Amino acid sequence: MNDVEAINAMVRQAAEKAAQETNDEPEPILVGDLNWPITCELRPGLEGAIACGTKIGYVNGSKGWLIYRGINIFELAEKSSFEETSYLLLYGKLPTRKELDNFRMKLAGYMPIDETVLAVLKRSPTARVRDTHPMTALGLCVLVLGMLDEKAEDTSVENEREIVIKLIAQIATITGMIARLRSGRDPVEPEPSLSHAANLLYMMTGERPSPVAERIMDISLILHADHGMNASTFSAMVINSSLANAYATISGAIGSLKGSLHGGANERVLYDIEEIGSVDNVEAWFQKARESKRKLMGFGHRVYKAYDPRARILGPLAGKMSENNPEIKRLYDIARKLDGMVCAELGVEKKIFPNVDFYSGIVYRALGIHAGMFTPIFAASRISGWGARFLEYLENNRIFRPRAVYTGPVREEYTPIDRR
Ligand SMILES: CC(C)(COP(=O)(O)OP(=O)(O)OC[C@H]1O[C@@H](n2cnc3c(N)ncnc32)[C@H](O)[C@@H]1OP(=O)(O)O)[C@@H](O)C(=O)NCCC(=O)NCCS
Repeated sequence: MNDVEAINAMVRQAAEKAAQETNDEPEPILVGDLNWPITCELRPGLEGAIACGTKIGYVNGSKGWLIYRGINIFELAEKSSFEETSYLLLYGKLPTRKELDNFRMKLAGYMPIDETVLAVLKRSPTARVRDTHPMTALGLCVLVLGMLDEKAEDTSVENEREIVIKLIAQIATITGMIARLRSGRDPVEPEPSLSHAANLLYMMTGERPSPVAERIMDISLILHADHGMNASTFSAMVINSSLANAYATISGAIGSLKGSLHGGANERVLYDIEEIGSVDNVEAWFQKARESKRKLMGFGHRVYKAYDPRARILGPLAGKMSENNPEIKRLYDIARKLDGMVCAELGVEKKIFPNVDFYSGIVYRALGIHAGMFTPIFAASRISGWGARFLEYLENNRIFRPRAVYTGPVREEYTPIDRR
């Protein structure tokens, strides 16, 4: 078994462990035909709300299942590539070899980016790219791409699908560009012969990744590609439902993903682990965090009430990368101990377990990536799910327009300014 096969075998083992530990608690029935109007019970944060029907993906929170187009995430992580998974999400079927080759060529062809984007990053008043959050820069660059596209305002499904494919390629390029500029180095041109995962790593680090590094990045991109009606996906769908255009939609989704309660958690996890410092401090840090009711980054989920299947894969991968790397081992050992303590206490009490963001940062750090770039990597993957979902909704578009319950007074007098 070579090194890449060994990584795939680890994914298989994670799948077997997940199957053994399946939780059989009841789950709201969210599979089957959707016939409007429906009745559902709502809680704050739109918990329980049904926004639409979809054939793209399904999360069963109590069993810890994640499915893209009917295929289990463990199987995709073991056998697929990010390009193939993106095709699956966008077109609803696995590509033939020829379709996949064409899709890959298309992505590689779209990767080189208009020089205006680099000029904006270099010349804007916030040219201190180092101080601007990379997600802010990424969202801005997507809007710049929209300014440069003569067909940006064509909101047909066909045109927006083409823009999504272009953005799958170019968000990777921009992510590489921002990573390089932040570390005071010149951007690296994309290399068309490389896979998407390898190119992303190459454009960030300037080095061609090893087959193992490439495979691990590929798995991580597959795992992050889609995840139900999460905040950024819903943001994308809301924006696109007004026929704003695909660039405004994706830029808005990037803004939503940035937050620390969503994709931004992966960066924050690493800061927490650094704050803990050593495995001996985990217990005291955790107890203090509990007393102060601090939110533990990388734990908890609106939907999962079981161990997140993506964390089941990324945890062992982080462990693998910690072998022969003392610095990563230190981070990994702290994370493992915290994982165990949280599961033992909060897992039992509140069904809080690690989510996708808990181990991804350690994996990326082991691949030589700075923490600030973790969330842009998430975006470079999630663009496929955002695109698939807002395009599916666009087919039968109706603008999103919920209501609020007004809780203020209704008959207040207007007081003139000199009597206030
Ligand atoms: C993901 C998240 C935003 C979901 O939020 P939510 O569905 O609104 O869940 P709530 O905030 O209502 O949490 C329910 C309970 O669990 C607790 N809880 C949830 N996540 C927690 C966490 N990460 N650390 C500590 N307690 C947590 C809440 O304090 C609350 O406790 P209470 O009932 O005693 O008030 C939340 O779990 C969180 O902030 N996690 C950390 C950030 C993160 O990792 N985000 C990435 C998600 S993929």
